[in-house]
Amino acid sequence: MPKDPLNGELCGPRHVAIIMDGNGRWAQARGRPRLFGHHAGARRVREVVEACPGLGIKYLTIFAFSTENWKRTQVEVAGLMSLFKRYIIKETRTFAENGVRVRFIGDRVRLDAKLIELMDQLERETADNDLVHLTVALNYGGRDEVARATKRLAKDVAEGKLRPEDVDEETLPKYLDTRVLPDPDLVIRTSGEARISNFLLWQSAYSEYEFIDTLWPDFTASELERLCKSYGSRERRFGAVPT
Ligand code: IPE
Ligand code: IPE
Ligand code: MG
Repeated sequence: MPKDPLNGELCGPRHVAIIMDGNGRWAQARGRPRLFGHHAGARRVREVVEACPGLGIKYLTIFAFSTENWKRTQVEVAGLMSLFKRYIIKETRTFAENGVRVRFIGDRVRLDAKLIELMDQLERETADNDLVHLTVALNYGGRDEVARATKRLAKDVAEGKLRPEDVDEETLPKYLDTRVLPDPDLVIRTSGEARISNFLLWQSAYSEYEFIDTLWPDFTASELERLCKSYGSRERRFGAVPT
């Protein structure tokens, strides 16, 4: 991992966000149902989370289910929901004992009560951890998030808690699901698609992007390390001219 020449510290990405895509194609290539790919994909998450501290990644955000994914067959959606529940039950202890703080972003209203209960419990049981902050985007859509944030903001204005003239770039992010997180430095999408599919629209305004061909169930910690190294050699300008 590249080091900062001034202070010798790692200068890889502090917040990595991943669009975990390609599970269906991975399964299809093996002549198996799509859910087989989703199970294989879920198993990849642990290795990636475990690699974070060594790479200097403090925040990892993963896209698990989008607000548009309800358009899939009932069989696939139900299978994914049951996979999320099983996954939380299976991994809670590992996260709790290994310093991982888990949060969920997205709209919970469409999720079933049992899943919401498990999500709350996982958030509670890991609330004191601080080694890695894992955020899972579940029933998440960037436009939906901005719309929900705007609704809350408008309510505060209507109730006289906020003046319209005080609304600026710093105000809206305080209403987003990600309000406690820094913006992602690096956004990775697997499976060869070069689009963001409604992920972290506001937050990724200045993120670096990596679109890689690997299908998510084949993604490894060493590939993450390669991408972090490549990030370290990029120059982020944020609109300014380099000095
Ligand atoms: C990503 O894999 C997982 C979810 C969207 C839930 P896909 O299921 O989109 O896999 P492909 O893109 O069809 O291969
Ligand atoms: C994005 O993948 C959502 C997740 C990875 C959860 P999709 O497979 O749903 O995106 P599109 O349909 O190819 O844009
Ligand atoms: Mg896909």
